[in-house]
Amino acid sequence: MTGSERFQRLFPNLEVVPPEHRLPGLVEQSTWLCGGELLRWEGAIQRVLSPVCVPSHAGLKQAVIGSYPRLGAEQALAALAAAGAAWDHGGGLWPTMPVRRRLEHVEDFAARMARRRDEVVRLIMWEIGKTLPDARKEFDRTVAYIHDTVAAMKELDRASSRFEQNEGIVGQIRRSPLGVVLCMGPFNYPLNETFTTLIPALVMGNPVIFKPPKLGVLLHSPLLEDFRDAFPPGVVNTVYGDGETVVGPLMASGRLDVLAFIGTSRVADLLRRQHPQPHRLRCVLGLEAKNAAIVLPDADLDEAVAECVAGALSFNGQRCTALKLIFVHRSLAAEFNRRLVAAVDALRPGLPWDPGAQVTPLPETGKPQYLADLVADARARGAQVLNPDGGAVHGTYVHPAVLYPAAPGMRVFHEEQFGPVVPVVPYDDVEEPVRAIMESPYGQQASLFGRDPESVGRLVDRLVNQVCRVNVNAQCQRGPDAFPFTGRKDSAEGTLSVSDALRVFSIRTLAATRATGANKELFSRIVREGRGTFLSTDWLF
Ligand code: G3H
Repeated sequence: MTGSERFQRLFPNLEVVPPEHRLPGLVEQSTWLCGGELLRWEGAIQRVLSPVCVPSHAGLKQAVIGSYPRLGAEQALAALAAAGAAWDHGGGLWPTMPVRRRLEHVEDFAARMARRRDEVVRLIMWEIGKTLPDARKEFDRTVAYIHDTVAAMKELDRASSRFEQNEGIVGQIRRSPLGVVLCMGPFNYPLNETFTTLIPALVMGNPVIFKPPKLGVLLHSPLLEDFRDAFPPGVVNTVYGDGETVVGPLMASGRLDVLAFIGTSRVADLLRRQHPQPHRLRCVLGLEAKNAAIVLPDADLDEAVAECVAGALSFNGQRCTALKLIFVHRSLAAEFNRRLVAAVDALRPGLPWDPGAQVTPLPETGKPQYLADLVADARARGAQVLNPDGGAVHGTYVHPAVLYPAAPGMRVFHEEQFGPVVPVVPYDDVEEPVRAIMESPYGQQASLFGRDPESVGRLVDRLVNQVCRVNVNAQCQRGPDAFPFTGRKDSAEGTLSVSDALRVFSIRTLAATRATGANKELFSRIVREGRGTFLSTDWLF
């Protein structure tokens, strides 16, 4: 399918990009962070293409915006050695540092990072095509997450700053770090989702190796100096390049203690299997999802349509929490579709910085073709594209396609489209969508739209043991970040939220003794005379 007239002017000459949104030039990142130093790389590089295309005599071409190092196994193992030295069997400076001081480093980093907002936001737009308001939201949400994590850590520390006595044993119980953590985030929230594991891992006292997503490396480059300057050497290290080359040796070394990975279950399984003692590797995984909406016969259609459009098409549907299948009761399918099509047609295609842009070009190579194939498969099996220009492809831009009636025989019914394709499935009996959710390999969230307390209440009961969040009259979403974010089946392992993440990157540890007079005196003196960090009743203000 080729783009219609409507999209011909989507990619203008780059000279018309407003100066405040232009990149100052090619962003050539030539360093990587290892052991507290930004090391210069003179080996192979990865060219970075923007989802933003430029017209050329040979047609549309993705703009080249810079490059980053393609490190090798040797550099990955050097990063591992640096993180290992910072851990030093749990005796390193960082894991043994008093929480108060560790938090000062983290707050120092947050303050430095906040000054980079414009630079990072600009790179988010150019590197992954996120709109200006959403890129700013991602940045601000991430800085807020750091501050909230600091507050949660203080709360956790306060709750642990006392002794407990039971059955003649007295002890102090705290959460302690686990060791070296590898953090790998996804391209759709390259900053936020990476930092929602990286920051709690650091706050708990773990040294980190951080591999940014392949699409989303440069936007971290303004922060490299801040990482270097805010943290002791080896606490934060970065690696870049081909996953097999740099991550394979890290996993195979057996010296990683935690894998925090947001991506596909296929890659997560592959990585875990490479660890020689997988039982020693704690995994924190955010994986695929195929979140469904069920629109009940008594739904408020205005609300349902508005939430479904935002749920299915924010950031072009490239959210793990996106609504990827919409079940509508047949009695209101025609009206729902009419309003849905009008709402989708009103969405504004544009470049990330264009005022009011709502649908933007896609960063993944081959994605337009993949989505076109999904649409073609659905059409061949009886679905229609309901909206004007639905599924039209123009360079890296794919116009949202509303598919109706979608059905179980179609690929789009099962595959996570992660893009602007909205399959609508009519149903007669609510058991049909419930069964589809039960039989799905995924179990992240679901949305219900309806007003009757009996049917909504019963459906919530049916679904809460299938997914981990049931949203009533609202789209699926991760936030607020204080709420638990997780999934069942192939969708996740471990729970993230501001406070849960601190648990995920730590283990409960205690120092205990028989409550004899001599032992009590010993513990009292350790605390009173400040002879230890673990045994302490200090109150963290
Ligand atoms: O890609 C998955 C994100 O965690 C979704 O977050 O629901 O806030 O967009 P969000």
